[in-house]
Amino acid sequence: MKSNNNTLLIEDERVDGSDKVTGKAKYAAEHSLPNMAYAVFVTSTIAKGNIKTLDTSKALASPGVLDVIYYANCPAVPGYASNAADRPKNVSEWRGYKVLYDNKVRFFGQPIALVVADSFENANAAVRLVKAEYEIEKFETNFDKARLDPTLLKSPVNYKRGTEKKFKEAASFVEAEYNIPIEVHNAMELFATIAFWEGEDRVTLYDKTQGPKSTQSTVVRTFGLTDKNVRVITENVGGAFGSGLRTWANVPAACIAAKKLNRPVKLVLTRPQMFTLVGYRPQSWQKVGIGADASGNFMGISHEAISNCARYEDFREGIVEASKFLYACENVDTKHSILPLDMSSPIWMRGPGEATGCFALESAIDELAYKLNMDPVQLRIKNFTAINPDNKLPFSDINIKDCYAYGMEKIGWKNRPMVPGSLKENGMLIGYGMSVGVFGAGKGTASVRIVLSNDGKLILECAVSDMGPGTMTSMTKIAAEAMQMPMQKIKFKLGDSDLPPGPSQGGSGTTSTVGSAVDMACKTVQLKLKELAIQFAPAFTGMTADALEVKNEMVVAKANAAIKIEVPSLLKLANQDKIDLTITSSGKTAEQLKYTSNSFSAHFVKLAVNPKDGTIKVLNVVTTGDAGKIVSPKTARSQMLGGVVGGIGMALTEKVEMDHTTGQIINASFGGYHVPLHSQIPNTEVYFVNKPDPHVNDIGSKGIGEIALIGFAGAIANAVYNATGKRVRDLPITPDKLGYKIVKA
Ligand code: MOS
Repeated sequence: MKSNNNTLLIEDERVDGSDKVTGKAKYAAEHSLPNMAYAVFVTSTIAKGNIKTLDTSKALASPGVLDVIYYANCPAVPGYASNAADRPKNVSEWRGYKVLYDNKVRFFGQPIALVVADSFENANAAVRLVKAEYEIEKFETNFDKARLDPTLLKSPVNYKRGTEKKFKEAASFVEAEYNIPIEVHNAMELFATIAFWEGEDRVTLYDKTQGPKSTQSTVVRTFGLTDKNVRVITENVGGAFGSGLRTWANVPAACIAAKKLNRPVKLVLTRPQMFTLVGYRPQSWQKVGIGADASGNFMGISHEAISNCARYEDFREGIVEASKFLYACENVDTKHSILPLDMSSPIWMRGPGEATGCFALESAIDELAYKLNMDPVQLRIKNFTAINPDNKLPFSDINIKDCYAYGMEKIGWKNRPMVPGSLKENGMLIGYGMSVGVFGAGKGTASVRIVLSNDGKLILECAVSDMGPGTMTSMTKIAAEAMQMPMQKIKFKLGDSDLPPGPSQGGSGTTSTVGSAVDMACKTVQLKLKELAIQFAPAFTGMTADALEVKNEMVVAKANAAIKIEVPSLLKLANQDKIDLTITSSGKTAEQLKYTSNSFSAHFVKLAVNPKDGTIKVLNVVTTGDAGKIVSPKTARSQMLGGVVGGIGMALTEKVEMDHTTGQIINASFGGYHVPLHSQIPNTEVYFVNKPDPHVNDIGSKGIGEIALIGFAGAIANAVYNATGKRVRDLPITPDKLGYKIVKA
């Protein structure tokens, strides 16, 4: 990466890479506090009903056990009161089920008690000694069955542009149903909370979260505290993919226990609990109809979806959104209903909504291409639009055609057989497929503190988190470029609610939102430096700030580079040991709001299907992103690689299996829930258009995290069809769905 004259300033390494690989970087559960106790949840073994009796006596008598907290002995939590009149003013009702609060069971695996002991082992050993007797109620966890009963569907949201179901009048059309099972984020790091109270009204948490400020605010509002008395520390996050976007039951439970026992309490979820207590991608059924005239112009798109939610709270994601605007089409209708089941609540998972919706839409477009006897890329180009047909605003930038061209060239698209099932290499059926992803590119509010010291060091601070994409690195790079100074002299601090408020890390918005604030903070400091030079350095007397620039840690006159002063000397001259400012960058400007902003991706896949047993091997992937300027090439590439891994999992292996006679997830472990193995990840090439988006924000960068995954499963399904002539519309695509018998070993 030594290719331009920024290279000495901007290195392409993760700034926290060495801390992470050497184990120096600490994750929530790795912290330890004096006198800390350890808590483990006891979870329900029924899906719905009431706890009649809970016998804790054996657990309490077990070695090292300090307490077993459950509904009968749980201290009052202000935010648990459902009646507003019973809650203090600054308290709002806890969202979701209230853990340890009542004897109701809402899903299999719900926490019903919390064992607290002097060691993790002692707590864990006592969990099985807690005995519950239940009154079982009738429950429903079977999505496929329940969705057929229209009376069970809830809150349909309808949309119509032009004529409904217009696709049926087109010269060619397809209409098909698509099913995606529950998928679980299952990040490497387990959810963990350490809570300790200093007095009645002051609590500090080490917690795994994508939003230190959001968790802080939830704790403040649940326990009736003040912002300054609640601190949430989350320096490193070992992956979350959306599961850390809300505060789950582990947080209030740890707070309750720490307060009750008056000592720090650590609560770490088990791997099976990661399947039930921290969300998942909802199960979905979709029906897409799409029609085109003889030359391929889309005449109508209809997209219907049902996705599951919990009985105790609604969750909806934008499954049908992309169908409204990704392609030019006058007639679009969509409908999305939710289906409450006796299960825990889903949550956003990487590419929420669009990952589900684009699988169906992009599969349907592929199906239509075969009907039209057209190349699927050409069909997409035919229906390209630079103006969002839903809100009628121009895209701030859209270079998806560059992605197509690169992907086609590199995957060898010219070798793609027009007749499915007609190409063999080394005895294997070979298929090529592609698919598109899209996600909104937002820009929100963030505050950044910037401190430039007279020793030349620059520190920036924001309470955002870094769940893995490399935010610390990309923010350091944005600062280095804005300040024109070496990365090594810059430190970006994050992951602590005491820092200036930043967003939760989500929706692929961090680079745009926090990056804009970092850029603004650096420019503000530069202006300050120029003013100080004019005021205090004689060589600059009478000049205007416009005539100066800050680079290489100096203030320099643009017209005469000989007139310069080093930043540390300038600060000393001005008798300042530092410049210390906090700036806030808000959402999009009026000018930026004249556009609609999205990141786009196009994924190209070459794969082989073994004709003997239907096993699928992905041979080659070219994944391309149109996400504006790429700030940090290495971490951006890693985001795309991660999307490919997640996408292969979604397409080929991942599925939560439920036993609907009990409501239990029966594969809640990495042994039973299959994420792709290293050997299943092919040679992958990542390409970015890498062109600054002129209208999205000042830095020209859009998000990558979601588009890395969105669309990918469709590319695989389309390639499988190209290889075999079999269209699989239900994920994951396993050999049985290609008509092969599964032979048990
Ligand atoms: Mo992402 S699902 O916004 O963490």
